[in-house]
Amino acid sequence: MTRVLSGIQPTGEIHLGNYLGALRQWTVDQHEHDSFYCAVDLHAVTVPQAPEELRSKTLETMATLVAVGLDPEICTLFVQSHVPFHTELSWLLECTVSFGELRRMTQFKDKSTKQGDAGQEQVSAGLFTYPALMAADILIYDADRVPVGDDQRQHLELTRDIAERFNSRYGETLIIPSAAIPKVAARVMDLQEPKNKMSKSSESANGTIGIFEDPTSIAKKFKRAVTDSSNDVSFDFETKPGVSNLLSILGAATNSEPDKLADKYTQYGPLKADAADAVIEVLTPVQQRRSELLADPAELDRIIARGAEKASEVAAVTVERAKTAMGFLPLK
Ligand code: AMP
Ligand code: TRP
Repeated sequence: MTRVLSGIQPTGEIHLGNYLGALRQWTVDQHEHDSFYCAVDLHAVTVPQAPEELRSKTLETMATLVAVGLDPEICTLFVQSHVPFHTELSWLLECTVSFGELRRMTQFKDKSTKQGDAGQEQVSAGLFTYPALMAADILIYDADRVPVGDDQRQHLELTRDIAERFNSRYGETLIIPSAAIPKVAARVMDLQEPKNKMSKSSESANGTIGIFEDPTSIAKKFKRAVTDSSNDVSFDFETKPGVSNLLSILGAATNSEPDKLADKYTQYGPLKADAADAVIEVLTPVQQRRSELLADPAELDRIIARGAEKASEVAAVTVERAKTAMGFLPLK
């Protein structure tokens, strides 16, 4: 059976981009594949986090994963730091990936240059080696398939390169994974700045739709979404990024093709209203489920503990295999 793994950082508010670009695919995959999903708290600390906030966000993220429809009886849902084998494999992979490869990662370049001229000197070393930890998350479960949004494509390619290099140095040890990137909404853009992706760290609160936002606020944000200067509705991200983003969101939320939807509209107003309604309809049941879960913390604790146990059983075996292949002395 195919193995699937993916992760989401427990920082900020989970938004519509995370949902349409990644989480929705996870809920489908769990029924077809042996699936592992985690809140990647070790990735979150590559930039400083307030301890209390990290704790509460991690718990909320786990509640969200269940609320979007991931069933802990069917898939393995866990918190990354509860399975310390990830950091152990990560070290072995840090010693496999090259400095030059890490330096070329666009996410690192973007996040470090955001800190100003001295950025690259001041960011944590963890932000730089982050792709090795991500590769460990994936390779430790022998994952074949990794559902992610388009922004993670480069990290996935590097993961494959790392695994191939490891295998050619030490013999066939690691499974080479592939990215599973959705056809529609792989990159949901900011509603106010449609040339930038919707992001947890966005500056414009009006550009991001949180998945737990109330319907009135969602409708208002769609109404105010930046469109384009000419008035026709067509699907072309180059010339009409705002309108194309709305068409993609509506397409993803209603399982239809954005370019075909474009033919149905002659004005922006009705497109905005329909996109808002479709998003509200998709998010309402998720919102209800999350409130029920947060009201029952013992149930959530139980789910998290069980997930850590199931994930550790698999991860321990792969780390041992990798260590043996590299020549570490077994403990007898
Ligand atoms: P993150 O919020 O960075 O932990 O991302 C969690 C998942 O959501 C990853 O698979 C990302 O690729 C995906 N994702 C994040 N932002 C977007 C976006 N704007 N559009 C589509 N997918 C996204
Ligand atoms: N790097 C991913 C992001 O920022 C999160 C992540 C960490 C991940 N480990 C992963 C995604 C393993 C897929 C598989 O979105």
